[in-house]
Amino acid sequence: METIIAGNWKMNMDPGESRTLVQELLQAVGAVKDRTIIVFPAFTSLPHVAEIVHNSVIKLGAQNMHWERSGAFTGEVSGLFLKQLGCEYVIIGHSERRHVLKEPDDWLNRKLKTALDIGLISIFCVGETQDERESGRTEEVITRQLDLGLKGIESEVHKMIIAYEPVWAIGTGKTATPDMAAQVHGFIRSQLTKPATILYGGSVKPENIDAIMKEEEIQGVLVGGASLKPDTFARIVKFTK
Ligand code: PGA
Repeated sequence: METIIAGNWKMNMDPGESRTLVQELLQAVGAVKDRTIIVFPAFTSLPHVAEIVHNSVIKLGAQNMHWERSGAFTGEVSGLFLKQLGCEYVIIGHSERRHVLKEPDDWLNRKLKTALDIGLISIFCVGETQDERESGRTEEVITRQLDLGLKGIESEVHKMIIAYEPVWAIGTGKTATPDMAAQVHGFIRSQLTKPATILYGGSVKPENIDAIMKEEEIQGVLVGGASLKPDTFARIVKFTK
């Protein structure tokens, strides 16, 4: 199974900053062979980054898309447009969209279906909040997110990537221990009908990447804050098992 190191830039980096970041990142990672590197810039930076990563070791993805291909959806972006710009991947259901922007599970299900139809690889995010973990509901929450998100497309899960991102670990500096993450990864795997790549996300940094990637259950990482500095992200890309 391929190893994926993905950088979610969130609402950071304007077009000029994005160009610089990805140019420096390309230099810093050099010729990496056995891992897939994906960056997820803001929509407005995608064409700029696409021009630079074309035919390189870095692949391109978008942070969100709409489930319709076109139409009267003011402010939304079609997956087809993203593909035209060179995106191969799209993040669906990031916790900031689930919790802050209140995207419900059935929207995510529609988006996952459209991404499959048009040939974008989804990184589908699931994960519990602090309250849910503390009240012992982690597995229940993840089961619900997987059931509703993958409704009708369970048999195609091998064409997607799942990211386990405990909400309490995102941008907080708190990381799930590798063992805790591996346990939830194992649970997610047990809920899927086909083998899928499962990433961990939540305060991944150079200091914890080697330990995280030593876990058999973890096939890669989705990195937020630490993906905004080329040397830091390159160190994560170059983890040693
Ligand atoms: P973080 O974000 O690495 O800054 O915790 C992870 C994510 O949101 O994917």
